[in-house]
Formats: sequence, C-alpha cells, structure tokens
Amino acid sequence: MTTIDLQAKIPNNVSLADNRQLQRALEHWQPAFLRWWDEMGPSDFKAKDVYLRTAVGVDAQGWAQYGYTPMPEYRWGIFLADQQENRKIGFGDFMGQDAWQEVPGEFRSAFRRLIVTQGDTEPASVEQQRLLGHTAPSLYDLRNLFQVNVEEGRHLWAMVYLLHAYFGRDGREEAEELLMRHSGDQDKPRILGTFNEPISDWLSFFMFTYFTDRDGKYQLKSLAESAFDPLARTTRFMLTEEAHHMFVGETGIGRVIRRSLEVMKEIGSDDSLKVRAAGAIDLATVQKYMNFWFSSALDLFGSESSSNAGSYFANGIKGRPDEAKFPDHKEIDTVYKLEVPDGAGGVKTEDLAMRNAMNAVTRNEYVKDCEIGFKRWNKLIERAGFNVELKLPSDRFHRSIGIWANVPTDLAGKPVSQGEYDALLKSALPSDEDRSFVKSLQHRVVEPGKMAAWIAPPDRGINNLPVDYEYVRLS
Ligand SMILES: [Fe+2]
Ligand SMILES: [Fe+2]
Repeated sequence: MTTIDLQAKIPNNVSLADNRQLQRALEHWQPAFLRWWDEMGPSDFKAKDVYLRTAVGVDAQGWAQYGYTPMPEYRWGIFLADQQENRKIGFGDFMGQDAWQEVPGEFRSAFRRLIVTQGDTEPASVEQQRLLGHTAPSLYDLRNLFQVNVEEGRHLWAMVYLLHAYFGRDGREEAEELLMRHSGDQDKPRILGTFNEPISDWLSFFMFTYFTDRDGKYQLKSLAESAFDPLARTTRFMLTEEAHHMFVGETGIGRVIRRSLEVMKEIGSDDSLKVRAAGAIDLATVQKYMNFWFSSALDLFGSESSSNAGSYFANGIKGRPDEAKFPDHKEIDTVYKLEVPDGAGGVKTEDLAMRNAMNAVTRNEYVKDCEIGFKRWNKLIERAGFNVELKLPSDRFHRSIGIWANVPTDLAGKPVSQGEYDALLKSALPSDEDRSFVKSLQHRVVEPGKMAAWIAPPDRGINNLPVDYEYVRLS
C-alpha cells in the first residue's frame, strides 16, 4: 500500500519528491490555487476553526482524520487509490490488454478534454456556494458545507495532478485556466452551463448535492473504469470523498421533509400556505425544486445518441459505471432501444448502436440511484400519516439537451401541447414567489445544536460527536 507523505509541501502518495520537475511545477501552481481559494472560496470564514476531515490514507477504512482546521490551512493534496497489480482494460476494443500507465498519443486530446471538463466543475461548485455560509441553518450544516467545499478543492488538485504529470506544457496551461474561469463570469465562465448559476439558498444546496453532485459521482464511476490507470486510480479515491456529499444532499432534503411533516401534524393540515405560515417549507415546493434540479442534472449527461461517447467506450477512455456488472463489455453489434418523440404527439422506439448510447446507459444508472432517496422520503411521509408522494419526473420532462430537448411533455413524459406545457411549468417548477419564500427563510443560526425553523436536526453528529458540538468556532 502506498503511504501518504503528509509533511510534504503538497501532501501526496505519488512519490512527488522523486520527480523534481513535476514537484516544482505543482509547487508553482499551489500559491495560485491558494489565491483562488482566498478570492473565490467561502467568503468571510478564513480564520475560523472548522471541524474537518482530512485524507491521511487511501484505504477505504480509516482514511481520514478529524480535527479543527482553518480552511486556508487545509492539507489539499494528491491521493490516488492503490494500484491494482496487472490491471487489465475492462471494456472496448482493447479489452484484456494491460491498462495504460501513460496516455497514448492518439487519445491525448480526448483525455485532456475529459479531465479539464471534470476539473472545471470542482472549483465551479465552490464558487457557486461561496456566500452560503452566511445563512447556514446550523453549525452542523455550516461545517458540512465547508467539508464539501474543501473536498471539491481537493478534486481540483486531483485533476491538476493528471494535467501536470501526463500532459506536459498543454496540461500546465489548462491547470492555469482552471483558476481563471469563474462561475457566472461574463467573459470567462465555467465550461458547463449549470455551474454558472449561483446557489443562494440552502434548499438549492441540498438539491445540488443530491442531484448535481450525483451526476459527478456517475461521471467519476465511468472514469474509474478507464484504461488510463492514473485516471482510474484518481477517480476511485475521489469517489470515497464524494460519498459524504451524497449524504449531505440526501439527509438535508430528508430533514426539510421531516420538519415539514412535524409542522403538518402540529397544525393538522397539509395546506401549503398554512405550512409556510408556520415557518416550514411545504412539500409541494420541495417537489418543484426536485423537478427543476433533476431535469437540469440530466442534461449534464449529454445527448442520448453520441458518437463521442461511442468512441470513448470503444477506445477504453471512459467505461460505464460499475462496468463489471454488464454482461457484454464490447457491445459491438448490440443495440439500445431509445424512446424518441414520433413527431405526431406520441413516442416511438428506435434502435441505436449500444456504443453510441453510453450517455443514456450511464444516465439510467444515475436515475436508479436518484430513486433511492425518494423511497426513504416517501416512507417518512407515509409514517407521518399523510397521503403525499414525492416523485422523480420523467427523464423527458423539461430537457434542454438530447432527443427530448424542448419537446413539451407532462411530468410522466407524455408529449403534450405547448399550451398545456406552459401552464404545467407554472405549477411544476419553482416560481419567483416560491424562490423568494425559500429565500425569506435563510437566516444564520449559530448556537451549537440549534436548527433553523425550516429544518429538522440530523439523527447524529459528525464522527460520533453530538449534534450540539461546536462544529465551527465562529467567535
Ligand atoms: Fe468533486
Ligand atoms: Fe462533490
């Protein structure tokens, strides 16, 4: 097992000290990163002690250490999952051959594009969330936000390491650019559209960590299968950290729902206006936020039919999440049944070469994973004795990318007229009024253990500590 050099200027388990040139290049990038964190990271919490976990190993058990750290002193570093001996390529045309330790020249630009696109989302999310700390509903939540933020910063390091180590001068230039683009910047925005929208309320933050970050999880799972071994190992360790982000999203939404159910019981009504008047977020609003965030996350997977995705698969660049569970790892003459609009208000099925359908296959796995939370949340509602069901909308609803882009459908995915669709959008997506109601609840709560009125406390604290632990020392 590789050991992590924690004393090094850049903590790492890639023997950075043995490669002076690479070490120097990364040490040159490090102050630029810290400047970026200072200017674009969480605003106004610089000197505060935050109870953070830091990676100290890459073993799934016991890889992290907990303690108070001011965020600018977080030990961002380079951590790759251990190398599997004799790892073979698990899919595509090169299946069965040795995994690559270097990037083959012919796939260099494809790999670079994938790594840069993934790398760009990591700092983008930190930028999107930079003001959220001011309205945290509890110290527990404030700490979780900061934990997610520092780890997204570390994920940037993970991608920058690959760029520096395997892509020469081009890679170093791309690494600089990752700090020059900024979320929402007019001239130099982040690469993917969704990552340019500010996240200014905590319901959106929980939706982001549940739906958008989960897209990241599925991209990482696909890259963890890559024939390029350093990329596979990097993303495998990122997934270990990512699990906490999924947890923040799922439990965050769950606590909003729990609070709303408590209020519904207290006032003996499920009327949205009455629930709001009592200071909680009504379930109808939660559902609208889900519809919005789910449909925008689906667009991140790209077009269902994509020859790029096909060549990534054929060439071993990017596999499917948990590739080993699929029966066929070559998919040479196989087809995917794709449902498309028939142009007459209905739906028909078309055959698509399986390799070109990899975005759809990955997205379907994502949708299944999204459903798990809904089962839990609906159980909470049922146990509280209310007859409401939260639902994922159809993956055809409200799309901007792919075969269903701009096709008016209802929430179940049935094509409808433009008029019906426009009317539906008013009730299915958050209105300006819904957003300003949610915004009106955003006030900072700083007393240890206390929660804002719109969210229930978590079941337990971090790392076996009590919920009322002082997770961030603000004074
Ligand atoms: Fe990340
Ligand atoms: Fe994440």
